[in-house]
Amino acid sequence: MVQQKLLFVCLGNICRSPAAEAVMKGKLKRAGKDNQVFCDSAGTIGFHSGAKADARMRKQAQGRGYTVTSISRKIKADFDFDRFDMIIGMDDQNIKDLYAIARSPEDHKKIFRMTDFSSQLSYKFIPDPYYGDIADFELVIDLLEDACEGLIKYLNSKEIN
Ligand code: 4NP
Repeated sequence: MVQQKLLFVCLGNICRSPAAEAVMKGKLKRAGKDNQVFCDSAGTIGFHSGAKADARMRKQAQGRGYTVTSISRKIKADFDFDRFDMIIGMDDQNIKDLYAIARSPEDHKKIFRMTDFSSQLSYKFIPDPYYGDIADFELVIDLLEDACEGLIKYLNSKEIN
């Protein structure tokens, strides 16, 4: 696996991308690869900047053994597109917003969609659970666990031997 820096992005950076960061960190740690991949998350809006992740997401993720520790922040194109190798959006609007702030074709190449890495579950985006119930948060974690497995396989396939 090559050294990579991954930034997970959703709208508010309090539900989906903090969970994606936590699930990815948890899976990497269990695989003994957490020192090779740096994971962070951000939102396309700054409305919740400085806030912990949504309590419902923290609780449901903890129930599966993932500790969500992120503090919400808004993505900053100049900083984040330079610092990260992959910038991974959760839904169509996130992807549109990322393209809108990208500065160059090199930046565009860094933009991915979380469900690009899904294997078993047929969702084309990670649905926003914010106005939903616990089942919606559980679905997000199901989708993220599946996509993170695929993302780890993708990173492994980039290994240079
Ligand atoms: P997230 O969920 O993008 O997964 O963090 C949301 C969080 C906040 C809002 C919408 C979605 N909001 O409207 O404040």
